[in-house]
Amino acid sequence: MRILVIGGGAREHALCHALSSDPDVTALHCAPGNAGISEVAMLRPVDTEDGAAVAELAVELRAELVVIGPEAPLVAGVADAVRAAGIPVFGPSAAAARLEGSKAFAKEIMAAAGVPTALSYVCTTPEQADEALEAFGPPYVVKDDGLAAGKGVVVTSDLAAARAHARSCERVVIEEFLDGPEVSLFAVTDGETVVPLEPAQDFKRAHDGDEGPNTGGMGAYSPLPWAEPGLTEDVLRTVLQPTVDELRRRGTPFSGLLYAGLALTGRGTRVIEFNARFGDPETQAVLARLRTPLSGLLYSAATGQLAGLEPLRWSDGAAVTVVLASEGYPTAPRTGDPVEGLEEVAAQDAPRAYVLHAGTRQDKGGHVVSAGGRVLSVTATGPDLAEAREHAYRALGRIRLRGSHYRKDIAAKAAEPS
Ligand code: AMP
Ligand code: GLY
Repeated sequence: MRILVIGGGAREHALCHALSSDPDVTALHCAPGNAGISEVAMLRPVDTEDGAAVAELAVELRAELVVIGPEAPLVAGVADAVRAAGIPVFGPSAAAARLEGSKAFAKEIMAAAGVPTALSYVCTTPEQADEALEAFGPPYVVKDDGLAAGKGVVVTSDLAAARAHARSCERVVIEEFLDGPEVSLFAVTDGETVVPLEPAQDFKRAHDGDEGPNTGGMGAYSPLPWAEPGLTEDVLRTVLQPTVDELRRRGTPFSGLLYAGLALTGRGTRVIEFNARFGDPETQAVLARLRTPLSGLLYSAATGQLAGLEPLRWSDGAAVTVVLASEGYPTAPRTGDPVEGLEEVAAQDAPRAYVLHAGTRQDKGGHVVSAGGRVLSVTATGPDLAEAREHAYRALGRIRLRGSHYRKDIAAKAAEPS
């Protein structure tokens, strides 16, 4: 199968990493890709939010499957443009991607489908926002209605900060605070059949012990040894299937990756948010354990054939992903510094541990330099979380980037003997 992957972050590197070792993949292209992806896929430049340009590229490459990684092209309707060109696409239509693109729309779908989530108000004036903040009390949860590249959510006990964020948004969702551990559960769906992947947990705060500002994600692991055995089945029944059914009922079926961000509260599981794409960095850890060839899974979703797919196969072991962030991330990331030690990881740690690139590029001399806040992540596997952690941190210790930082406690608690 000839595959074109759209995007150029760590998630797309994880997808390309898995697809490049898949025996059914005969050609792998990525647009625009990044310095790391260039080692496993042919890179092509493209404006990822221009549906006509992506469709044209897919036709030119004779792609049999287009996999759209990030949310922005999905919300912009790039999947629709590629589908209109007659090429199967892994990724929802613009209409279905609103599940991520608008928090208010997601709330409406959940209400209609009976999916448990935080109580919320959608506010369009400062007065409405003040009333909602008053009604819920602290800690306040204030969410920009639209796509905000991970910066749209403020959780704070400071009323002034909550009010200020609400005023900076055109439309804002203010909701009840959900207490309890968070779980990311991904599901592949063709709009009808829903196939959950293994759950993962990510670490959103910048510093050890869940301190510091929110980030796009500093690390992840899978599986979750502490989770109830029935968690996935339960979420499939109460969250994923009803949501997919509701979108189909409305004539806007969701096919692609449905990501449920969940809080396991004392009163039961609640949806924190939906995303319409694979999450970063959970994808790196989840795909490291998937044994079923990825291309067949994505193609079945893209062509409405998931019902006939064999059950997914997973490694019994564990995977841990740790993100290396540049100096100043997330406030003011510094870029343009050389990243050293990548060859050492490739020589000494592969295949058990490997680097997936996020914000990197090649300078004129062909050296990898930092080009974003989250620069790269190391993913490692092992028979259990403790060993996977050890491998991940050993490999990460070989990488040198001026001023960079990473969390030392990814999966630490979960790896402790219970
Ligand atoms: P989101 O961008 O929706 O993933 O939100 C970012 C983070 O904010 C989540 O991962 C949670 O840690 C936190 N968060 C969002 N909504 C809530 C809520 N209702 N209660 C508590 N924390 C929340
Ligand atoms: N891991 C969080 C996200 O991808 O949105």
